[in-house]
Amino acid sequence: MTCTTHKTCMTHTTCKTKPESPFTDEALLHYIKTSDTAESAALFKQARKVKETRYGNAVYFRGLIEFTNYCKNDCYYCGIRKSNKKVQRYRLSTAEILDCCRIGDKLGYKTFVLQGGEDPYFTDERMLELINAIRRDYPAHAISLSIGERPRASYEAFFAAGANRYLLRHETASVEHYRKLHPPRMSLEERKQCLYWLKETGYHAGAGFMVGSPFQEPENLLADLRFLEELRPQMVGIGPFIPQSDTPFGAYPAGNLDLCLRMIALTRLLLPDALLPATTALGTISPQGRELGLAAGANVVMLNISPQSTRKLYALYDNKICTGEKAAECLLCMKTRLHASGFTPDMSRGDPPANRKAG
Ligand code: 5AD
Repeated sequence: MTCTTHKTCMTHTTCKTKPESPFTDEALLHYIKTSDTAESAALFKQARKVKETRYGNAVYFRGLIEFTNYCKNDCYYCGIRKSNKKVQRYRLSTAEILDCCRIGDKLGYKTFVLQGGEDPYFTDERMLELINAIRRDYPAHAISLSIGERPRASYEAFFAAGANRYLLRHETASVEHYRKLHPPRMSLEERKQCLYWLKETGYHAGAGFMVGSPFQEPENLLADLRFLEELRPQMVGIGPFIPQSDTPFGAYPAGNLDLCLRMIALTRLLLPDALLPATTALGTISPQGRELGLAAGANVVMLNISPQSTRKLYALYDNKICTGEKAAECLLCMKTRLHASGFTPDMSRGDPPANRKAG
């Protein structure tokens, strides 16, 4: 039986074909709350095994281009929020962005991620120009966008122009918690709506959330996992909250590494095919954070190919790692680290198993 509300019935809560969850709420809450390190280690091992059945030991690389730090939003946790007057704002020109792509391509990247704040300068027209230009030069690369909430028609136009993937973290799947992290003009409902639009348009969609954001309770993390099961995104970005000193949350503590790893592992068990990055934030709270993430079920790293001159300015949180190195240095460093911890760097497009030929 197919769902009447969403084209992809797997995403609909009341759809009859929705698969049973392998975990009860109690079991998930137990893993979220546990402080038993042996139990966590067993969970990581199980998640890694599941990853290996789908992806082997491969770790996929994404070339990240942080092309604007202007943002019209005012999220309380984010360093590039509109009200942060201390940020030196920048936006890259089309030529500069294409330069990043050229450098990234030379290094072997097959995915470009265009990430930025919600910058009104980048109208649909300008974004289309940019996507068209990249698509013209790189017909076989994956183009990922991470530019926030837009009308459905914009998502469709970007997709038609050749964008294949879209990252839009839901941040938290609990309405009350969402309100505590964002100003009143932003809503969880709209955020979720955008994610469904993206999936329905045909993108590989990426949801995700921060671990340890202020006011977060175990029940909120449970809701995040249940939302992921409902949406079934192809990608999920999970990283610790890290305070940025010039934001309203500047004095809150960073998220806990072990809890982050458990959330990655649980996400792997709930969505075995998902592409899960070991995030830069994870590497920022702990020197081995990314390797630990990969050992707990993650299988992607997103490395910066932005110009060195602007990297420090894309400061979502304090003490972000890898802001001084050149693109080539970051890549070499990560490849060496992966080899040292038993992973296989893989520079292919890294699509999900069911969609290896998509887009
Ligand atoms: N700590 C950790 N992650 C953050 N993000 C924004 N601000 C912070 C912070 N202070 C994350 C959000 C956003 C992504 C681009 O970066 O989850 O979706």
